[in-house]
Parts: sequence; C-alpha cells; structure tokens
Amino acid sequence: MKRIVVVAAVLAFSAGAVVAQQDQVKRTQGMMKDNGKNAAALSAMVKGEKPYDQSTVNAALAQFDDTAKNLPTLFPESMKGVRLEGDYDASPKVWTDKAGFESQIKSFAKVVTDAKSKVKNLDTLKAELPVIGKQCSGCHETYRIKKG
Ligand code: HEC
Repeated sequence: MKRIVVVAAVLAFSAGAVVAQQDQVKRTQGMMKDNGKNAAALSAMVKGEKPYDQSTVNAALAQFDDTAKNLPTLFPESMKGVRLEGDYDASPKVWTDKAGFESQIKSFAKVVTDAKSKVKNLDTLKAELPVIGKQCSGCHETYRIKKG
C-alpha cells in the first residue's frame, strides 16, 4: 500500500508538482519527528523516568523498522533543494553520496532488526538503545544539517 503511495508521489514530482514535493518533505520530517518521539520514550525508560513497557518498546521499534524500510524512498532526487520550515534540512550529501547514504540505511535497518529480537526487558533495552542511537546520530552527522 505504502509503495503505491510512494510511486504515485514520485510520478507527481516528475510532473513538477511543487506541492507534492513539499508534502514529501513534510512526510519525511514527520517520520523523523516520530522517530525522535519514540527514541525519547525509550530513553525515559532507560533513565528510570518511566516504567518499562513492552508495548511502547514494540511500537517504537516497529516505527524505526518502518522508517528503515521507507528511508530509501524518503529522499527522492526531486526533494533536493526543497526547503520548508523546521530546524533541519537534508544535506546535499544525501544525493551526492548516495552509496554512503544507502549503507547508513542498511546498517540502521540491521540494528533495528536485531533490537526487535533482543529487547525483552529493561536490561536489554539499556544495552540496545545506545546501539540504535549511534545509528541515528551516525546518519545525522553526515546527512542532516541544522539550519542556522
Ligand atoms: C539513514 C539516515 C538517517 C537515519 C538512520 C535516521 N535519520 Fe533522522 N534524519 C535524517 C535526515 C536526512 C534528516 C533531515 C530531514 C529534513 O529535515 O528534511 C533527519 C531528521 C531528523 C529529525 C528532525 C526532524 C525535523 O524536521 O524536525 C529527527 C528528530 C530525527 N531525524 C530523528 C531520528 C532518530 C531518533 C533516528 C533513529 C531512531 C533517526 N532520525 C535515524 C536521516 C536519518
């Protein structure tokens, strides 16, 4: 289902629909914002601010997994240079260093898959969250720019 939407969106871009491009950026940023919220929810458990809750963990990991699956299509060529409100932009390196970006996506996907099978309690969450976080920041370091 998602694929069909993406294909439709890509077709809309090639027709030069600026509105569709902006929708795409919004969708991408929205997905990343959800990643941020989920990562914060997991980190609250690790810090002991919230009790461990498996269903919250599962939902967060499922959303990371969904992100990993969608990342290869989240930054189509047509999104290059499209600017919206928000604190961040994708770095031009997303498009100039495609191979590097794709390998970041792959390693993120792998770590999330591992975490899905490993995280069953607070101790395993404590072990896995930094591993996931490293993937998030590893990609952001190179491929995300904070707007000045
Ligand atoms: C393969 C690369 C990659 C991975 C992995 C990745 N991100 Fe991102 N993220 C980006 C890029 C690129 C942007 C900038 C997108 C934009 O603003 O157009 C971004 C933006 C964001 C933003 C800012 C959204 C906004 O506009 O306010 C947050 C929050 C975020 N990511 C959280 C996360 C978290 C948490 C993870 C890990 C669970 C993660 N990301 C994994 C590439 C990645």
